[in-house]
Amino acid sequence: MKIQSVKSLNGKVRLPGDKSISHRAAILASMAEGETRIENFGSSADCASTLNCLEKLGVEIKRENTTILIGGVGKKGFTKPVSELDCGNSGTTMRLLSGVLAGQNFDSVLIGDESLSKRPMRRVIEPLTLMGAKIESNGDSAPLKIYGKNPLKSILYKMPVASAQVKSCVLLAGLNVEGKSKVQSPKSKSRITTSRNHTELMLEFLGAEIEENFIETVEGFVHEISIDGNSNLASKNLNVPSDISSAAFFIIAAACLKNSEIVIENVGLNPTRTAIIEILRGLGADIETLNQTEKCNELIGDLRVRGNGNFMPKVLSNKIDGEVIANLIDEIPILAIFGTQLENGLEIRGAGELRVKESDRISAVVENLRRMNADVEEFPDGFRVGKSRLEGARIDSYGDHRIAMAFAVAALLATGETEIVGAECAGVSFPEFFQVLGQVVK
Ligand code: S3P
Repeated sequence: MKIQSVKSLNGKVRLPGDKSISHRAAILASMAEGETRIENFGSSADCASTLNCLEKLGVEIKRENTTILIGGVGKKGFTKPVSELDCGNSGTTMRLLSGVLAGQNFDSVLIGDESLSKRPMRRVIEPLTLMGAKIESNGDSAPLKIYGKNPLKSILYKMPVASAQVKSCVLLAGLNVEGKSKVQSPKSKSRITTSRNHTELMLEFLGAEIEENFIETVEGFVHEISIDGNSNLASKNLNVPSDISSAAFFIIAAACLKNSEIVIENVGLNPTRTAIIEILRGLGADIETLNQTEKCNELIGDLRVRGNGNFMPKVLSNKIDGEVIANLIDEIPILAIFGTQLENGLEIRGAGELRVKESDRISAVVENLRRMNADVEEFPDGFRVGKSRLEGARIDSYGDHRIAMAFAVAALLATGETEIVGAECAGVSFPEFFQVLGQVVK
């Protein structure tokens, strides 16, 4: 993909359904009894991987563009697949389905592409083994052969990392336990839900017995979710808001280009996902929230972004670190591009998890920014970027959708032409990205 600089972004856009919420909608609707209609289901390749795996587990699925009809089989009603379940590039598919499969009375094998086969799976193998499933793996990674068991044993699991995928895996397995299961996040300084909470919200919406607690300790707060395994899920129609992580590319492009004005409609504004908006506002970006409302337990609204292209940091610190990182993790590559436009640059620390995403996102950001002649320094757990005049370059996406899209935005701000090698991987989360971008650039 070859991209030149542009003057501004103008117009109104509607982006595809949220990837995280779509995965959960498909999985929970399958575990419910009866038919569910899901509106605005994500168009991403990752969400398609989840649907394909569920079909192989005996779930009937009808696709009508972005409306999906799911014939729920009940929480232990899946059938043994005749072949391996291919999760493609999708960590969420693999980690969430592991939790579902651990509680079924059959064995199954989860596989993934080259990138997913290198990602850490010990984080789900450990709690599920404690709950009574037996899992064979290739070291700490996929393929995962899961020997399920029903019922599983209840657990109090203390997560070593703040991960929504691990939390969700334990909660989904917890539906096939006799009694309550609890999952705790690592300690935080404030009462903050340190990873996205879509699973909890949707489980509650579908009638599961689920409770949230903050336990105060001398070293800080522990966020705990407990689920009662006697819960059954009702089939209720679900609506997926547009993906704020996809919106982030448009928000930052518009914020950086003077004379831009875009409206992004129907965006998911769950507080565990909006750290990106708060940080951008704190750094001087002009972002307005309009028409905020709630659907299926999730906040949604429209975002209007105006490009002032001239940021006056309202906060003194240009360093982002600590417990906010988990709620911002997928937006860090595009935030790095924003950092190159700030007078004092930007430093991201405490983000070592980025090294085990679809690519090593710390080194992918640093390497590609260097190619664009930016001032950038790499740390084991993050990076620092200084204000830079970006120059067009040949960018390697490393097969990672968020790297491809972040650098497409960098290309809009750079002098000359930028070539993104492997740009088609954007389809992993946002197949329409380049088309929608083409509609709003001037
Ligand atoms: C996701 C959780 C995050 C995020 C990923 C999607 C989810 O991963 O990076 O893109 O849908 O639960 P972790 O749970 O590993 O932090």
